[in-house]
Amino acid sequence: MTLVAANPELKSPATGSSNIANPWVLIVGASSGIGRAVAKRWASAGSDVLLAGRDVEDLNRSAADLRLRYGHRVEVVSFDALDFDSHEAFWRDCLSRAGGDLAGVVMLHGWMPPQADAQSDFALARKAIDTNYTSAVSLLTLAANEFEKKKRGFLCVFSSVAGDRGRQSNYAYGSAKAALTAFLQGLRNRLFKSGVTVLTVKPGFVDTAMTWGLPGLFLVATPEKVADDAFKAVGKNRAEIYTPFFWRYIMLIIKSVPEFVFKRMKL
Ligand SMILES: NC(=O)c1ccc[n+]([C@@H]2O[C@H](COP(=O)([O-])OP(=O)(O)OC[C@H]3O[C@@H](n4cnc5c(N)ncnc54)[C@H](OP(=O)(O)O)[C@@H]3O)[C@@H](O)[C@H]2O)c1
Repeated sequence: MTLVAANPELKSPATGSSNIANPWVLIVGASSGIGRAVAKRWASAGSDVLLAGRDVEDLNRSAADLRLRYGHRVEVVSFDALDFDSHEAFWRDCLSRAGGDLAGVVMLHGWMPPQADAQSDFALARKAIDTNYTSAVSLLTLAANEFEKKKRGFLCVFSSVAGDRGRQSNYAYGSAKAALTAFLQGLRNRLFKSGVTVLTVKPGFVDTAMTWGLPGLFLVATPEKVADDAFKAVGKNRAEIYTPFFWRYIMLIIKSVPEFVFKRMKL
Protein backbone atom coordinates (compact mmCIF):
# COMPACT_ATOMS: atom_id res chain seq x y z
CA MET A 1 0.00 0.00 0.00
CA THR A 2 2.76 2.42 0.91
CA LEU A 3 4.41 1.66 -2.40
CA VAL A 4 1.27 2.67 -4.26
CA ALA A 5 0.76 5.91 -2.35
CA ALA A 6 4.40 6.91 -2.64
CA ASN A 7 4.99 6.22 -6.32
CA PRO A 8 2.65 7.84 -8.84
CA GLU A 9 4.21 5.76 -11.63
CA LEU A 10 3.09 2.59 -9.93
CA LYS A 11 -0.29 3.57 -8.64
CA SER A 12 -1.87 4.48 -11.97
CA PRO A 13 -1.23 1.25 -13.88
CA ALA A 14 -2.03 -0.88 -10.84
CA THR A 15 -5.53 0.48 -10.51
CA GLY A 16 -6.26 2.00 -13.91
CA SER A 17 -8.48 5.03 -13.62
CA SER A 18 -9.75 3.77 -10.27
CA ASN A 19 -9.75 4.96 -6.71
CA ILE A 20 -6.07 4.94 -5.83
CA ALA A 21 -6.78 4.94 -2.08
CA ASN A 22 -8.14 1.42 -2.42
CA PRO A 23 -5.87 -0.86 -4.41
CA TRP A 24 -7.72 -4.19 -4.01
CA VAL A 25 -7.86 -6.03 -7.31
CA LEU A 26 -9.91 -9.20 -7.83
CA ILE A 27 -8.29 -11.87 -10.01
CA VAL A 28 -10.77 -14.49 -11.21
CA GLY A 29 -9.10 -17.67 -12.47
CA ALA A 30 -6.00 -16.90 -10.41
CA SER A 31 -4.75 -20.50 -10.55
CA SER A 32 -4.39 -20.30 -14.34
CA GLY A 33 -0.92 -20.09 -15.86
CA ILE A 34 -1.50 -16.49 -16.89
CA GLY A 35 -3.46 -15.78 -13.67
CA ARG A 36 -0.43 -16.48 -11.48
CA ALA A 37 1.67 -14.08 -13.54
CA VAL A 38 -1.12 -11.48 -13.42
CA ALA A 39 -1.33 -11.75 -9.62
CA LYS A 40 2.44 -11.23 -9.36
CA ARG A 41 2.36 -8.29 -11.76
CA TRP A 42 -0.36 -6.42 -9.89
CA ALA A 43 1.03 -7.26 -6.43
CA SER A 44 4.53 -6.16 -7.46
CA ALA A 45 3.08 -2.76 -8.40
CA GLY A 46 1.39 -2.25 -5.05
CA SER A 47 -2.06 -3.82 -5.29
CA ASP A 48 -3.66 -5.95 -2.63
CA VAL A 49 -5.15 -8.95 -4.39
CA LEU A 50 -8.08 -11.29 -4.03
CA LEU A 51 -7.30 -14.62 -5.68
CA ALA A 52 -10.45 -16.40 -6.84
CA GLY A 53 -10.81 -19.91 -8.24
CA ARG A 54 -11.81 -23.50 -7.55
CA ASP A 55 -8.51 -24.86 -6.26
CA VAL A 56 -8.36 -23.13 -2.88
CA GLU A 57 -5.33 -25.13 -1.72
CA ASP A 58 -3.33 -24.05 -4.75
CA LEU A 59 -4.48 -20.44 -4.33
CA ASN A 60 -3.47 -20.48 -0.66
CA ARG A 61 0.05 -21.50 -1.70
CA SER A 62 0.16 -18.63 -4.24
CA ALA A 63 -1.19 -16.23 -1.61
CA ALA A 64 1.56 -17.16 0.88
CA ASP A 65 4.19 -16.65 -1.82
CA LEU A 66 2.79 -13.24 -2.84
CA ARG A 67 2.59 -12.01 0.76
CA LEU A 68 6.19 -13.02 1.33
CA ARG A 69 7.46 -11.43 -1.89
CA TYR A 70 5.54 -8.15 -1.87
CA GLY A 71 4.20 -7.66 1.66
CA HIS A 72 0.69 -6.77 0.52
CA ARG A 73 -2.67 -8.14 1.58
CA VAL A 74 -3.66 -11.27 -0.32
CA GLU A 75 -6.88 -13.21 0.25
CA VAL A 76 -8.30 -16.34 -1.33
CA VAL A 77 -11.95 -16.68 -2.35
CA SER A 78 -13.55 -19.86 -3.66
CA PHE A 79 -15.25 -19.44 -7.07
CA ASP A 80 -16.81 -21.94 -9.45
CA ALA A 81 -17.72 -20.26 -12.73
CA LEU A 82 -20.32 -22.92 -13.54
CA ASP A 83 -22.21 -22.48 -10.25
CA PHE A 84 -24.14 -19.46 -11.51
CA ASP A 85 -26.37 -19.27 -8.43
CA SER A 86 -23.31 -18.62 -6.26
CA HIS A 87 -22.03 -15.64 -8.27
CA GLU A 88 -23.91 -12.88 -6.47
CA ALA A 89 -22.83 -14.11 -3.00
CA PHE A 90 -19.27 -14.49 -4.34
CA TRP A 91 -19.27 -10.92 -5.62
CA ARG A 92 -20.66 -9.53 -2.32
CA ASP A 93 -18.01 -11.51 -0.41
CA CYS A 94 -15.24 -10.06 -2.61
CA LEU A 95 -16.56 -6.54 -2.14
CA SER A 96 -16.77 -6.93 1.61
CA ARG A 97 -13.21 -8.34 1.82
CA ALA A 98 -12.05 -5.28 -0.15
CA GLY A 99 -13.74 -2.92 2.33
CA GLY A 100 -16.67 -2.35 -0.03
CA ASP A 101 -14.55 -0.93 -2.81
CA LEU A 102 -12.64 -2.89 -5.44
CA ALA A 103 -10.30 -1.01 -7.78
CA GLY A 104 -10.81 -3.51 -10.57
CA VAL A 105 -11.28 -7.05 -11.77
CA VAL A 106 -9.01 -9.19 -13.95
CA MET A 107 -10.99 -12.13 -15.34
CA LEU A 108 -9.04 -15.08 -16.73
CA HIS A 109 -10.92 -18.28 -16.05
CA GLY A 110 -11.46 -20.33 -19.18
CA TRP A 111 -11.61 -23.80 -20.63
CA MET A 112 -10.78 -25.19 -24.07
CA PRO A 113 -12.05 -28.67 -24.95
CA PRO A 114 -10.50 -30.65 -27.79
CA GLN A 115 -12.61 -29.57 -30.78
CA ALA A 116 -13.23 -33.19 -31.85
CA ASP A 117 -14.81 -33.92 -28.45
CA ALA A 118 -16.91 -30.73 -28.47
CA GLN A 119 -18.40 -31.60 -31.88
CA SER A 120 -19.38 -35.11 -30.85
CA ASP A 121 -20.66 -34.23 -27.37
CA PHE A 122 -22.86 -31.16 -26.95
CA ALA A 123 -22.30 -31.22 -23.16
CA LEU A 124 -18.64 -30.31 -23.78
CA ALA A 125 -19.49 -27.57 -26.28
CA ARG A 126 -21.93 -26.16 -23.74
CA LYS A 127 -19.33 -26.36 -20.96
CA ALA A 128 -16.95 -24.33 -23.16
CA ILE A 129 -19.67 -21.72 -23.78
CA ASP A 130 -20.68 -21.59 -20.11
CA THR A 131 -17.12 -21.41 -18.77
CA ASN A 132 -15.77 -18.88 -21.26
CA TYR A 133 -18.88 -16.81 -21.94
CA THR A 134 -22.03 -17.30 -19.82
CA SER A 135 -20.19 -17.20 -16.50
CA ALA A 136 -18.26 -14.11 -17.61
CA VAL A 137 -21.52 -12.36 -18.51
CA SER A 138 -22.93 -13.21 -15.09
CA LEU A 139 -19.94 -11.89 -13.15
CA LEU A 140 -19.29 -8.91 -15.42
CA THR A 141 -22.90 -7.81 -14.97
CA LEU A 142 -22.48 -7.72 -11.19
CA ALA A 143 -19.12 -5.92 -11.43
CA ALA A 144 -20.26 -3.47 -14.10
CA ASN A 145 -23.36 -2.44 -12.16
CA GLU A 146 -21.31 -1.84 -9.02
CA PHE A 147 -18.54 0.10 -10.79
CA GLU A 148 -21.05 2.13 -12.79
CA LYS A 149 -22.72 3.25 -9.54
CA LYS A 150 -19.33 4.26 -8.10
CA LYS A 151 -18.19 5.80 -11.40
CA ARG A 152 -14.80 4.12 -11.27
CA GLY A 153 -13.10 0.77 -11.68
CA PHE A 154 -11.51 -1.32 -14.39
CA LEU A 155 -12.51 -4.59 -15.98
CA CYS A 156 -9.65 -6.47 -17.67
CA VAL A 157 -11.01 -9.58 -19.37
CA PHE A 158 -9.15 -12.34 -21.23
CA SER A 159 -10.72 -13.23 -24.54
CA SER A 160 -8.59 -14.76 -27.32
CA VAL A 161 -7.42 -14.40 -30.89
CA ALA A 162 -9.45 -17.60 -31.38
CA GLY A 163 -12.57 -15.39 -31.24
CA ASP A 164 -11.50 -13.30 -34.25
CA ARG A 165 -12.38 -15.93 -36.83
CA GLY A 166 -13.92 -19.39 -36.47
CA ARG A 167 -11.54 -22.17 -37.48
CA GLN A 168 -12.26 -25.90 -37.80
CA SER A 169 -9.62 -26.75 -35.18
CA ASN A 170 -11.29 -24.93 -32.24
CA TYR A 171 -14.54 -23.18 -33.14
CA ALA A 172 -16.43 -24.35 -30.01
CA TYR A 173 -13.99 -22.47 -27.78
CA GLY A 174 -13.47 -19.71 -30.39
CA SER A 175 -17.18 -18.95 -30.70
CA ALA A 176 -17.47 -18.50 -26.92
CA LYS A 177 -14.53 -16.07 -27.00
CA ALA A 178 -16.08 -14.24 -29.99
CA ALA A 179 -19.28 -13.77 -27.98
CA LEU A 180 -17.22 -12.55 -25.02
CA THR A 181 -15.38 -10.04 -27.23
CA ALA A 182 -18.69 -8.66 -28.56
CA PHE A 183 -20.14 -8.47 -25.03
CA LEU A 184 -17.10 -6.50 -23.88
CA GLN A 185 -17.44 -4.07 -26.81
CA GLY A 186 -21.00 -3.29 -25.77
CA LEU A 187 -20.11 -3.07 -22.09
CA ARG A 188 -17.24 -0.67 -22.84
CA ASN A 189 -19.59 1.48 -24.89
CA ARG A 190 -22.15 1.53 -22.03
CA LEU A 191 -19.63 2.25 -19.24
CA PHE A 192 -17.59 4.92 -21.02
CA LYS A 193 -19.67 7.79 -19.66
CA SER A 194 -19.27 6.56 -16.08
CA GLY A 195 -15.47 6.45 -16.33
CA VAL A 196 -15.27 2.68 -15.92
CA THR A 197 -12.74 1.12 -18.30
CA VAL A 198 -13.12 -2.22 -20.07
CA LEU A 199 -10.04 -3.87 -21.56
CA THR A 200 -10.29 -6.88 -23.87
CA VAL A 201 -7.07 -8.91 -23.84
CA LYS A 202 -6.51 -11.17 -26.85
CA PRO A 203 -3.48 -13.41 -26.32
CA GLY A 204 -2.03 -15.56 -29.08
CA PHE A 205 -0.41 -18.82 -27.98
CA VAL A 206 0.79 -18.75 -24.36
CA ASP A 207 2.81 -21.42 -22.58
CA THR A 208 0.28 -22.72 -19.99
CA ALA A 209 -1.68 -25.87 -19.13
CA MET A 210 -4.30 -24.84 -21.72
CA THR A 211 -1.89 -25.26 -24.63
CA TRP A 212 0.34 -27.99 -23.18
CA GLY A 213 0.98 -30.72 -25.76
CA LEU A 214 -1.09 -29.06 -28.54
CA PRO A 215 0.37 -29.57 -32.01
CA GLY A 216 1.23 -26.73 -34.40
CA LEU A 217 1.93 -23.97 -31.85
CA PHE A 218 4.23 -21.14 -32.91
CA LEU A 219 5.42 -17.82 -31.48
CA VAL A 220 4.48 -19.02 -27.99
CA ALA A 221 4.63 -16.26 -25.36
CA THR A 222 5.36 -16.53 -21.64
CA PRO A 223 2.53 -15.86 -19.15
CA GLU A 224 4.74 -13.07 -17.68
CA LYS A 225 4.87 -11.20 -21.01
CA VAL A 226 1.09 -11.44 -21.41
CA ALA A 227 0.47 -10.34 -17.80
CA ASP A 228 2.79 -7.36 -18.23
CA ASP A 229 1.06 -6.29 -21.46
CA ALA A 230 -2.35 -6.49 -19.75
CA PHE A 231 -1.12 -4.56 -16.72
CA LYS A 232 0.31 -1.73 -18.85
CA ALA A 233 -2.81 -1.59 -21.02
CA VAL A 234 -5.03 -1.11 -17.95
CA GLY A 235 -2.80 1.78 -16.89
CA LYS A 236 -3.22 3.39 -20.31
CA ASN A 237 -7.01 2.86 -20.37
CA ARG A 238 -6.69 0.84 -23.57
CA ALA A 239 -9.83 -0.78 -25.02
CA GLU A 240 -8.33 -3.87 -26.65
CA ILE A 241 -4.88 -5.40 -26.95
CA TYR A 242 -3.33 -8.31 -28.77
CA THR A 243 -0.50 -9.89 -26.82
CA PRO A 244 2.22 -10.15 -27.95
CA PHE A 245 1.38 -7.19 -30.21
CA PHE A 246 2.22 -8.94 -33.50
CA TRP A 247 -0.94 -11.10 -33.19
CA ARG A 248 -2.90 -8.03 -34.31
CA TYR A 249 -1.22 -8.31 -37.72
CA ILE A 250 -1.44 -12.11 -37.87
CA MET A 251 -5.17 -11.90 -37.18
CA LEU A 252 -5.59 -9.04 -39.65
CA ILE A 253 -4.26 -11.39 -42.34
CA ILE A 254 -6.39 -14.32 -41.15
CA LYS A 255 -9.53 -12.14 -41.02
CA SER A 256 -8.92 -10.76 -44.50
CA VAL A 257 -8.74 -14.16 -46.27
CA PRO A 258 -11.91 -14.38 -48.40
CA GLU A 259 -14.40 -17.00 -47.23
CA PHE A 260 -14.26 -18.99 -50.50
CA VAL A 261 -10.52 -19.50 -49.85
CA PHE A 262 -10.76 -19.77 -46.05
CA LYS A 263 -13.28 -22.63 -46.10
CA ARG A 264 -10.80 -24.74 -48.09
CA MET A 265 -7.91 -24.11 -45.68
CA LYS A 266 -6.88 -26.46 -42.87
CA LEU A 267 -6.65 -24.15 -39.88
N1 LIG B 1 -2.90 -20.23 -23.04
C1 LIG B 1 -3.21 -19.66 -24.19
O1 LIG B 1 -2.55 -19.89 -25.22
C2 LIG B 1 -4.35 -18.68 -24.28
C3 LIG B 1 -4.55 -18.02 -25.50
C4 LIG B 1 -5.60 -17.11 -25.62
C5 LIG B 1 -6.42 -16.86 -24.53
N2 LIG B 1 -6.22 -17.51 -23.35
C6 LIG B 1 -7.15 -17.22 -22.26
O2 LIG B 1 -6.43 -16.72 -21.14
C7 LIG B 1 -7.09 -17.11 -19.93
C8 LIG B 1 -6.09 -17.83 -19.03
O3 LIG B 1 -5.60 -18.95 -19.76
P1 LIG B 1 -4.45 -19.95 -19.25
O4 LIG B 1 -3.77 -20.45 -20.45
O5 LIG B 1 -3.67 -19.30 -18.17
O6 LIG B 1 -5.38 -21.10 -18.67
P2 LIG B 1 -5.13 -22.39 -17.77
O7 LIG B 1 -3.75 -22.40 -17.18
O8 LIG B 1 -5.61 -23.58 -18.53
O9 LIG B 1 -6.16 -22.08 -16.60
C9 LIG B 1 -7.54 -22.02 -16.79
C10 LIG B 1 -8.11 -21.42 -15.54
O10 LIG B 1 -9.53 -21.39 -15.63
C11 LIG B 1 -10.03 -21.90 -14.42
N3 LIG B 1 -11.34 -22.51 -14.58
C12 LIG B 1 -11.74 -23.39 -15.51
N4 LIG B 1 -13.03 -23.75 -15.28
C13 LIG B 1 -13.41 -23.07 -14.18
C14 LIG B 1 -14.60 -23.02 -13.42
N5 LIG B 1 -15.69 -23.73 -13.75
N6 LIG B 1 -14.65 -22.20 -12.35
C15 LIG B 1 -13.58 -21.47 -11.98
N7 LIG B 1 -12.41 -21.48 -12.65
C16 LIG B 1 -12.34 -22.28 -13.72
C17 LIG B 1 -9.02 -22.97 -14.00
O11 LIG B 1 -9.20 -23.28 -12.66
P3 LIG B 1 -8.80 -24.74 -12.07
O12 LIG B 1 -7.36 -24.60 -11.68
O13 LIG B 1 -9.72 -24.89 -10.91
O14 LIG B 1 -9.05 -25.74 -13.15
C18 LIG B 1 -7.74 -22.22 -14.29
O15 LIG B 1 -7.45 -21.30 -13.27
C19 LIG B 1 -8.26 -18.01 -20.36
O16 LIG B 1 -9.43 -17.23 -20.39
C20 LIG B 1 -7.89 -18.45 -21.75
O17 LIG B 1 -9.03 -18.75 -22.53
C21 LIG B 1 -5.19 -18.42 -23.20
